[in-house]
This record gives sequence, C-alpha cells and structure tokens, in this order.
Amino acid sequence: IKIAAIVPAAGIGSRMQVGHPKQYLKIAQHTILEHTLNKLTQLSELNQIVVAVSDSDEYFKTLKLSDKRILAVSGGKERADSVLNALLALNDKQPDWVLVHDAARPLVTVHDMQKLITQCVADNEGGILASKVKDTIKRGESHSLQTVPRGKLWQALTPQFFPYQALKSALQQALKNGVAITDEASAMEWAQHPVKLISGRSDNIKITTPEDYDLACFLISKQQE
Ligand code: CTP
Ligand code: MG
Repeated sequence: IKIAAIVPAAGIGSRMQVGHPKQYLKIAQHTILEHTLNKLTQLSELNQIVVAVSDSDEYFKTLKLSDKRILAVSGGKERADSVLNALLALNDKQPDWVLVHDAARPLVTVHDMQKLITQCVADNEGGILASKVKDTIKRGESHSLQTVPRGKLWQALTPQFFPYQALKSALQQALKNGVAITDEASAMEWAQHPVKLISGRSDNIKITTPEDYDLACFLISKQQE
C-alpha cells in the first residue's frame, strides 16, 4: 500500500506572538518543523512527505532537509485549504492513504504513528490519534452553567489517517458547504465516514501559545535523553 504524509505548515502562528511563524522557532538546535519532519522521516511506511508552506514563507528553503521523500507545496488560507492543496498536489501519484500531521506537533512518537497506521489499515477504516479528556469540563461564558460529562470526550490530536480519495472529496464538499472544519476528522464525520479513535500519548501537544512552547522545550529534552 502507498501512504503519503501531509504536513500543514503554512500558518502564521498569531497566538504565539513571536513575529514569525511558530514552526520556525528553535528548540534544542532545530526548528519545530524540523523536529516534526524528523519524526515522520523515521516512518519507512511513507512514500512521500508533502509539506504545505505559505507562499510568503522565507524560512522553509533555509532548512537542511536531506530526505528525498520531502516535497513542498503552497499552503492555503485556512488549515483545511493547506491540506487540500497538498492532496491535490498528489493527484498524479495518488496514494491509498494519507497521514496528516501538524507541523506544530513535534512531540508525536513514532510508536503512536505506527499504531494508528496499523490499526486503521487492518480494519480498513480511517482514524485519528486522540486522548481521553482528563479535566473537568465546564460549559458557560462568564459563569459555569453546566459540568459536561467527560466519559465520551476525547481530545483530537494528529496524525489523522484516512483513505486519500475519501478525504479529498470530504474536504472539498465540506469546504464548499461552509462546514467548520478544524481537522480532517471533522470533514470525514460530516461526510459520514468512520473515524476511529486511537488512544495516543497526551504529551503530543500542539504548540500554540508561549506556555506550550516552554512545555515543549522540556518534553523534547526529555525525549532526547
Ligand atoms: N496551518 C496551515 N495553513 C493555514 C493555517 C494553519 O498549514 N492556513 C498549519 C499550521 O502551520 C500548524 C497547523 O496547521 O502546523 C495547526 O494550526 P495552528 O496551530 O492554528 O497554527 P497557526 O494557524 O499558525 O497558529 P494561529 O492559529 O495561532 O495563528
Ligand atoms: Mg490557526
């Protein structure tokens, strides 16, 4: 089977507030994007690694990336547009499956990615890494009106792994219909495709704010021990 990875890396990182896209912040010698790509290149299952990069990005070309499977394509306005552009770039050499992984999640483990791929391929169903919600969750605005039972709540992570054709048409249709899509799974759910929840490590955080960055520095140093 043919599997391609897609790495949305075309965001501006507005919530990080560092004046340049957060995927180019350094942690222990390497940029966040390099750490992420380093995890993906350890997967021998991948035939291609497509990175969606902004047209105004000046940093990507300065990275030293030696893996021949890596290809950069133009990103889009929203994350879903970036992922769709990468899917369309694969039109001539369509894979069977795609593994979509945020550039901003360098802490993912190779073990968790392999577990996701293995279980989805075995059952022939798409799925995502997710972790069970651990906090007490409140609903409300200025005051809490309700405590939401968390028994069936999961935090969606990436990678998210789906059949190429099904994901491409679900994203196209969902975008055309103005559906709010913040991950691939939301488009697949909307198109009524199965989305398996595969339990993954909760320290596979998305680096979004300065607090996340500090935590990621610690977690990366721990992973490198
Ligand atoms: N992303 C993308 N194309 C966009 C927007 C986001 O490829 N138009 C990517 C980001 O680079 C990131 C991932 O999607 O790797 C998750 O998005 P997020 O954490 O929201 O990153 P940013 O959009 O860059 O950050 P912010 O929302 O704070 O501006
Ligand atoms: Mg964003």
